Order: sequence, then C-alpha cells, then structure tokens
Amino acid sequence: MTVEWNSFFSRRTKKISGSQIRQFFALTERPEVISFAGGFPDNTYFPQTEISNSLASLVHADTKQALQYSPTEGSYDLRKVLCEKMSRDGKLCETSSLIITNGSQQGLDMLGKVLINPGDPVLVEEPAYIGGMSAFKSYGGNTVGVDMDEEGPIPSSMEQTLKQHSGIEKRPKIFYTVPNFQNPTGITTSLKRRFEILAIASRYNLIIIEDNPYGDLYYDQDVPLSYKALDREGRVIYLGSYSKILIPGIRIGWLAGPGPIIEKVSMVKQTADLCSSSLGQQLAYRLTREGYVDKHIARLRQLYRVKRDTMLKAMEQHFPAGIKFSKPGGGFFIWVNFPSYYPGSRELLDLALQQNVAFVHGEGFSSQGGGLRSARFSFSQPSIDDIRFGIKILGEIFWEIEAGCTVQLAGQQF
Ligand SMILES: Cc1ncc(COP(=O)(O)O)c(C=O)c1O
Repeated sequence: MTVEWNSFFSRRTKKISGSQIRQFFALTERPEVISFAGGFPDNTYFPQTEISNSLASLVHADTKQALQYSPTEGSYDLRKVLCEKMSRDGKLCETSSLIITNGSQQGLDMLGKVLINPGDPVLVEEPAYIGGMSAFKSYGGNTVGVDMDEEGPIPSSMEQTLKQHSGIEKRPKIFYTVPNFQNPTGITTSLKRRFEILAIASRYNLIIIEDNPYGDLYYDQDVPLSYKALDREGRVIYLGSYSKILIPGIRIGWLAGPGPIIEKVSMVKQTADLCSSSLGQQLAYRLTREGYVDKHIARLRQLYRVKRDTMLKAMEQHFPAGIKFSKPGGGFFIWVNFPSYYPGSRELLDLALQQNVAFVHGEGFSSQGGGLRSARFSFSQPSIDDIRFGIKILGEIFWEIEAGCTVQLAGQQF
C-alpha cells in the first residue's frame, strides 16, 4: 500500500504552499538566464580570504567556543558586540535583550510561533516581503495589507484597517515592517512616518516587528532612526542579519526586544535547534570585533551602488515612459509598475523568460490580490554587463507591447 502523505500532514502545514520565489529558482538558475529574480547577495563580493583565515584560526585556537554547542540565546561575546553596534545607532540594547537566530528568517518564524493564534490578523506592508508573510501564515495568521507610498506605510490606511477590525473579536496586534530599502519596493519609511506609525501602535496597542537586513547598505544617505531607537514604550522587536552585510551561508541573525519576548523566543529556539551554529557565531564575532564587517559594508556600498545606478540608468534608457519604477537609496530591489493597458506581470514574465531574462511578478508580495501589474527587480546578483543587457532585452519586449497597444487603440478609434 502506498502512503497517502496528505492525510498525515497537520492541519497547520496543509495550508503552507511553496513561495513563488523558490519555485522560480529552478527556472532562473538555468545558466543562460539573466536573473533579476532572486534577492541574493553577489557571490563575487564574499570575502573568501578573510573568512578562510578566520575559520582556520578559530578551529585551531578557539576549539571550545567554535566547535562545541553554544548557549541557546547565543554567544555572549557576539551578543555584546551586536549590542554595541546597535547602541551606536541609538538602538539601546543590553546583551540580555538580544538573542542570536539562524538568520532573521528564523526570527520571523519564532515570532509567528510565540505571537500568532490561528485566524489572527497581522498587519503587513502592501506589498510585503514574502518570507515574512509566509512565516506568519504558517501559524494561521491572516496578513492584512497597509498601503504604502514613497514615504512608507500610509498612517491613514493603517488606522482605517485597524478601525475596520476593531469591532471584531480578533484585532490585529502586530505590524510587520521592513523600513529600510524594503523588500520588494526599495522604499525607505521617512522619519515622520516612523513617528506616526509608532503613535498609532501606541493608540491601538500594537507590537511592531522591525526587520532590517538592508539598512547598512545605503548608497546615497544614511537611513532615518529605527523604530527601535524611537520606541519609548518597549513595543518594538528588532531583527538584524549578517546575510547581506557578510554572508548568508553562516545563517546568523539576531532578535532584540523586551525581556518577556526574549524569554519566550529562547524557549521556542531551544526546541527548534538548541542553538545557532557556534562556528558561524564565532566567525561573525571575530570579524565584527576586528572591525572587518564595518570595512566590508563600506566596500559593499560602493559595489552595489554601481549596480543600482546601472539598472536605473538602463531602465531610464530602455523602458517606455509609461513604466514607472522606484529609485531606492539602498538595498537590492527596484519595484516596477506597468501601465494598466499592459498584460499582467505574470504574462510579461513568461515573455521575458522566452528571451532568457527573469524577474519576480508582483502577485506573491500582495496580501490582498494586488501586484498584478507590478514586478520586483533585484540588481544585487547579476553582473553589470548582464544588468545592461537584460534590461535592454526587456525594453525591446515592452516597446513591442506598446506598439501593439497603439495599433489596437488606433483600431478602436476608427
Ligand atoms: C526583508 C527580509 N527579511 C528577512 C530575510 C531573511 O534573511 P536571513 O538570511 O537573515 O534569514 C530576507 C532575505 O532576503 C529579507 O529580504
């Protein structure tokens, strides 16, 4: 008898479906495809020599710390240097209120586990990071979008959504936000908006989950003060990560928040994995303590700035004027909006893939059926030449669409 696996799965996991980004990887990983789809860092920027030297010395000189299990909440040394880093940016933090995670994705998952009951509405940005929404949905959360403009989440949209939910038993208690160079739009929430959102959070007793993997990667000017730094009521939980500023392969991130949250998350982490990789933590600690991570970040800013500028310039040059795109001050992503007379972005992606170019269509980033005519373009991984060439190819596809639309419109007129 063959096993009917579906009948074994828990009710909770039956609802989980694969992220469209993961599904795309198979397609975009074909060597002939120029991919603007994945949000990976550029492999060629990984500091192989420094990592290799540091690992060699760790394995020999620091065996106990690097090769043994570590405390569930993480190495004290690493937590200390991270608190110092956060405090430099005004985010007051003590080692006891910071826990090391396997990337910020584990932080999101654990927060989902400790905070969300099935059916709970969770406020997210519209559009939002797919991995965040998936984590919350996997615990039964219903994501509810707060509209955004170029300054970030719109306070009136947030308040309206909260009022709509105030009469029902389950009121939102969480707002999840990526305030710097947001994935997927590249938008940075202005300082004024951060104050306004915090005031709403206070009025409606919301917790803010501030996910900040891109804040250090600014290419024009530094980012505004974080929610964590502005918070006077202890209602912000902050997530940081080494994935974009060093390497994702060590899977090291951190979660900083009020004591009761850290305590609960620690318990959940204990059953999930006992501890994060000791080797990864010691590597992150050494390279941070020695000042190498800061130096590397400064280098990354220069390198990714050139890629961002190349993609924006190519879009300006090759895309028809009706296509609008964000101009991010940092991070990895540009959000593209197509005119209403274009085919949906899913169909555009099919056309692009026929020419061996990939991006992510916007639907998966929406919690309310939006994103039909939007797409996320990532400039982090492809080479400068591929960025120029891939955008030129897409420009040709879009100009053909424009020509077809003009003929159709002209046909209708006569
Ligand atoms: C907004 C956001 N949050 C979290 C993550 C997960 O990152 P990590 O590698 O730290 O788990 C990503 C990864 O791309 C991201 O874009």
